[in-house]
Amino acid sequence: MAFPLDTVTSAEWVAEVERDVVALLADHAHCELKAAASAHSLIAKNPEHHDLCRALTEVVIEEMEHFRIVLAELESRGGTLGEQSENTYAARLHKGSAGTRKSLVLDRLVIAHLIEARSLERFHLLSHHAKDVRLRELFAELLPSEAAHQGMYAKFARQLFGREDAEQRIAELRALEGEVMRSLPPGPTVHSGDPLRTVAVAGSPAAP
Ligand SMILES: [Fe+2]
Ligand SMILES: [Fe+2]
Repeated sequence: MAFPLDTVTSAEWVAEVERDVVALLADHAHCELKAAASAHSLIAKNPEHHDLCRALTEVVIEEMEHFRIVLAELESRGGTLGEQSENTYAARLHKGSAGTRKSLVLDRLVIAHLIEARSLERFHLLSHHAKDVRLRELFAELLPSEAAHQGMYAKFARQLFGREDAEQRIAELRALEGEVMRSLPPGPTVHSGDPLRTVAVAGSPAAP
């Protein structure tokens, strides 16, 4: 399976996050909430783009459904949601893009596309390599809608800002995403660093 990213995560990352499944689920439940909140805020700030708002409404509903599923799994394992911790990965993408940004809306769409694409890559790894069968099933269940979300965000970036400008920004922010991902420490979260460090996809402009 190919992902629209400049770097790929090693299968060793799965063993790293499986060390603390409750922490992984607690963090991920918050990620689903943040994904819903981000789509919600894009609707409120772009009411003139009706097709975008309709698509984002579906995203909000789906992310809240994911939240419900992940929270139920967390609680079935004796965990609780707990305080939200800062998502360093997403914060660094937004901060890192600000200096070269031409349009806040374009960057928000492209960053949402990249976050969904990275989640998709990580869900794919978990659904194939987790030792915990229930975890494999859970992430396999969530995977199809994250695949649709990453495609939807890229589609609207192209539709609203033109193919050429959107593709240029996707390429620039993909490189930033690869850099951010390579610099993050490993840990029990979907957006943690790879213990082997993510490696550049062959032929990628981000190859070191
Ligand atoms: Fe989700
Ligand atoms: Fe999503």
